[in-house]
Amino acid sequence: VIIMAKNKNNQAIWNTRIKKKASTLFEKVGSSIDIDKRLYKEDILGSIAHVEMLFKQKIISFKVKNKIIYGLQKIEKQISKNNFEFNKKYEDIHMNIEKKLFQIIGDEAGYIHTARSRNDQVITDFKMWIRSATKKINTNLEKIVRSSIKLAEKNIETVMPGFTHLKNAQPISLAHYFMAYVEIFRRDQKRFINNVEILNECPLGVAALSGTSFNIDRYYTSKKLGFNNPTNNSIDTVSDRDFVLDFLYSVSVCSMHISRIAEELIIWYSDGFNLIHLSDKVVTGSSIMPQKKNPDLLEYLRGKSGITFGNLFSMLTILKGLPLSYFKDMQDDKEIVFRSHDTLINCLNILDEILKNLSPNKKRMFELADTGYITATDLADYLVKNHKMSFRNAYQKTAEIVNFAEKKKKKLKELTIEELKKIEPKLTHEVLKIFDLKNSINSKKSYGGTSFENVKKMISNYKKKQ
Ligand code: ARG
Repeated sequence: VIIMAKNKNNQAIWNTRIKKKASTLFEKVGSSIDIDKRLYKEDILGSIAHVEMLFKQKIISFKVKNKIIYGLQKIEKQISKNNFEFNKKYEDIHMNIEKKLFQIIGDEAGYIHTARSRNDQVITDFKMWIRSATKKINTNLEKIVRSSIKLAEKNIETVMPGFTHLKNAQPISLAHYFMAYVEIFRRDQKRFINNVEILNECPLGVAALSGTSFNIDRYYTSKKLGFNNPTNNSIDTVSDRDFVLDFLYSVSVCSMHISRIAEELIIWYSDGFNLIHLSDKVVTGSSIMPQKKNPDLLEYLRGKSGITFGNLFSMLTILKGLPLSYFKDMQDDKEIVFRSHDTLINCLNILDEILKNLSPNKKRMFELADTGYITATDLADYLVKNHKMSFRNAYQKTAEIVNFAEKKKKKLKELTIEELKKIEPKLTHEVLKIFDLKNSINSKKSYGGTSFENVKKMISNYKKKQ
């Protein structure tokens, strides 16, 4: 008997129906165990909830339920201790675990798959996996938020040129810049959390596609596994991979943000701009040019968004035109998600490390801010407020003054009051303070603006929320 059981355990579950051994070619491509073994914890949690429900509904006995749970817990331990041999022949994580259960507890393992299918099983596992991956991502995002706030706190009065089109636009506080990163990554966190809210319906119990004739309690398993409700439609449930797309999209958006910041820091670090220092911990040398310190890591970050966007498009393309219900096509969802997830986690760790090893070149930032007639808008605003001009007239007058300064090769602040009066006779000495960069920054007191006061307040608001 023992020998027979052993032989049985060596065969695929469908061997009564499918007599020939799978072509080795198919075994190679059809098996997903190398990838979906990452779902083992969720798979076991799902199975335990399932058999507890089956017992509560009197579908299986107390003894069978306990035996199965005992076996599953043993398997959990084996896998987490790396003491489990995964077998490609059993295709995926679900079958590997079921097969092992037979080996541990014998024939009663056969009750575990009552009223369920791998189709509902895999989505349940995967939703739970994405739920906890989201938590991990958000913890990493929180680290970046904290590092950005730290940089902001240290640089409230650091003056830098704000750019549009990469041309000097208006002076800003560097802290305001870092607080912009905080907004960006907080939004990413919310996007990930929203996804979890949408996916939080439990697929377990819809079985292959049409539900089951067993008197199961889907509300019970749903609650046990931390979902809000069971899903409403069995066909939709096994067909739906929207939660996968939502996750991949959110990863894409987040890595797009990282890519933008990386590019920005690459520009700031370039010899032309020279606005920041990076410590030796985050730069690399050249094999031929001895003087080089290159921002390779930032370039790595900039490039990786290409991978995550590609993954989103892979999944969209797989789903496009796919009729409802389960198809093998969908099996690739896990590989795609795991790759995107791992890429993002790497990127988040690297970005955080860079933020911790970055310092502004304050002198150079100020010098650059002090060029390009950067306070011209302030002058126009001043004319509106003090000399009763419409903004359009004031804009014109200021442009004339900028033209004049350009011709004289002078900065705005180097113009004398006599020179200014020649263009706008109403002007008095008072106007000269308008060209002061800190004065300009401090005047931007509108909500969300760059004034030192505003920035300080924003930082402390965020710190209270942490
Ligand atoms: N490994 C499969 C997947 O991830 C599980 C579902 C298999 N269902 C099936 N009918 N072949 O897609």
